Amino acid sequence: MHHTNHSLADLAGKAILVTGASSGIGAATALALGRAGARVALAARRGDLLESLAGEIRGGGGEALVIPTDVADESAVAAAVAATLKAFGRLDGAFNNAGQLGRVAPLSDIDAADFLQVMQSNVLGVFYALKHEMAAMRAHGGAIVNTASIVAHVGFPHFAPYNASKHAVLGLTRTAALEGWPQGIRVNAVSPGPIATPMAEIGFGGLDNLHATLQTMPVGRPGTPEEVAGPVLFLLSQASSYINGHSLLVDGAMTAA
Ligand SMILES: NC(=O)c1ccc[n+]([C@@H]2O[C@H](COP(=O)([O-])OP(=O)(O)OC[C@H]3O[C@@H](n4cnc5c(N)ncnc54)[C@H](OP(=O)(O)O)[C@@H]3O)[C@@H](O)[C@H]2O)c1
Repeated sequence: MHHTNHSLADLAGKAILVTGASSGIGAATALALGRAGARVALAARRGDLLESLAGEIRGGGGEALVIPTDVADESAVAAAVAATLKAFGRLDGAFNNAGQLGRVAPLSDIDAADFLQVMQSNVLGVFYALKHEMAAMRAHGGAIVNTASIVAHVGFPHFAPYNASKHAVLGLTRTAALEGWPQGIRVNAVSPGPIATPMAEIGFGGLDNLHATLQTMPVGRPGTPEEVAGPVLFLLSQASSYINGHSLLVDGAMTAA
């Protein structure tokens, strides 16, 4: 009875751009998209990692395009959207997931350069992506997911720039959702809790520390990148056709405690 889910798992043949595809959540989501039959454009700075991921996607019968991109550079983001259009003929979806933690220190020790560096990638990077993706989708509609965080909803001591940047991602998500809706473009966010990726290792001072810290809390364990990929595919698909401007918590109830 595998026809039952057919209309919901509607990503086959869709052209989807993923930023921050070289690692962690972005890489897991790109792989899941490839398995769902989507044509995936992979963007991040580390082209070597994108090439090996593209190999993995193609090995599984999927279609992948590698586009080395620094999302803090608007011309590079515009070029990534243009390259996707050129290769796939259209842009149906995007996962704007590139992000970085920045300097870890008490707020009073953080200077403007630290702050701006995080804002460039995490906020302007998402803004540039939305701007060029929505222009490309205007004719036929589409679906976009931005990676926010639980710290788009709560504070995060010693991560002031990161915390502010993720709140800003939600603001961009909501405004883009309102502007996009009449054009058939939905824009949502996923807000992951602690996910076992290289970023979380840095944030928690190593994977052992991450697991030990979470064991003392109701959430118990970090999530896996694959546990974020599923919700992203849902938000990119027609299964979520009336969900727009939403931030979907993927945090094992961490923020419910
Ligand atoms: N892990 C968590 O606990 C957690 C929780 C909530 C939210 N998030 C968010 O999830 C997203 C993915 O993070 P992750 O946990 O998967 O960490 P990760 O493994 O460190 O991946 C981060 C990705 O972002 C890319 N990136 C960073 N700056 C970029 C730039 N200027 N231009 C292009 N790509 C850039 C990196 O690629 P290159 O270095 O190759 O450019 C990499 O692919 C981020 O937005 C992060 O804030 C993570």
